[in-house]
Amino acid sequence: MKSLKHIPTFATACVAASALWAAPAFAVDWNAVPGKDINLFYPGQASWEWVMTPTDHSGAATFRQGKNCHECHDVDGHSEAPLMGEKIVKGGKLEPNPIPGKAGTIKLNVKMTHDADNFYVRLVFDKPPETLGEEMDPNEGKVTMMVSDGKVQEAGRAGCWVACHDNLVTMPSAPPGVAITKYLMRSRVKMTRQGGADLKPADQLKAMKQDGQTLEYWQAALNTGKPAKAYEGQVLASRNFRRARVVTAEAQEENGKWVVLLTRKLHAGPGFKDIDPGQTYVIGFAVHGSHAAHRFHWISFEKTMVVDNGQADFVVK
Ligand code: HEC
Repeated sequence: MKSLKHIPTFATACVAASALWAAPAFAVDWNAVPGKDINLFYPGQASWEWVMTPTDHSGAATFRQGKNCHECHDVDGHSEAPLMGEKIVKGGKLEPNPIPGKAGTIKLNVKMTHDADNFYVRLVFDKPPETLGEEMDPNEGKVTMMVSDGKVQEAGRAGCWVACHDNLVTMPSAPPGVAITKYLMRSRVKMTRQGGADLKPADQLKAMKQDGQTLEYWQAALNTGKPAKAYEGQVLASRNFRRARVVTAEAQEENGKWVVLLTRKLHAGPGFKDIDPGQTYVIGFAVHGSHAAHRFHWISFEKTMVVDNGQADFVVK
């Protein structure tokens, strides 16, 4: 495999864009791509409404004044995430139903690169230890990446939390008998400490969607000895997830680790965010293990990425 430097630059993308299928991401020379370890942590029931309420969260007032989550909790070289996760997972105010043996934190190694057509993400993490919690998901594990392109401004400040509300399924204000999935505040008429209830009119939601005011999700569902399954979707009024048509996922097990590759076209068509040089994206990651679902995952604080040139946590070449 030639070094990535020899792959045609982005400028030739349009010429080469006729390739129908994504190239297998395992063919990328990943040794030539720099990576970063990110600390994922167990968040319990720390919803958007929880983090925004000063009597619940001592960082709320300063967050409202403009300081982002990671600036207090997860700067390069000093991440509080592992300690936060270890504390929350054991049970307490943020976790009324602790799962015995569940890890409070895991490390995720992230590498990203692109060629003329495709964007490639390689995610490596230790297979989470099996715990005896309830089997909530048919899949053994899942790894998910969230992408925001600036149209959802609040995601630039708080990453995944902007979709995590107090009335989602398994959260403190969840209404009985209804499983509410992730949504954005802008889709609701009004927000309270318990989350948002009434949806805005359908025409307004449609206009937001057409304007790209969504978060995009790419996911690989993982099962030992089986090929990965790819899922994709958007979040606005709810989490619209489906078997992927655009994103592909591959997974290998190596020495007790999952090595997962997600691939998406740089320009994947209507409903998908264009991935273009020079533009900054906010990204976030989540891992589910031991057949867990919903909030029983490990997540990252918000990270930034930029393609080719610029300043971000990840400069993707
Ligand atoms: C001004 C700095 C600051 C900002 C900004 C901030 N926090 Fe905090 N956060 C704190 C402090 C201080 C605590 C309290 C730690 C404690 O009291 O145990 C805390 C606690 C937490 C906890 C609970 C940890 C535990 O041990 O129970 C979570 C989860 C959390 N913050 C998430 C967030 C998220 C998400 C954001 C962004 C929306 C954010 N924080 C923004 C300062 C901040």
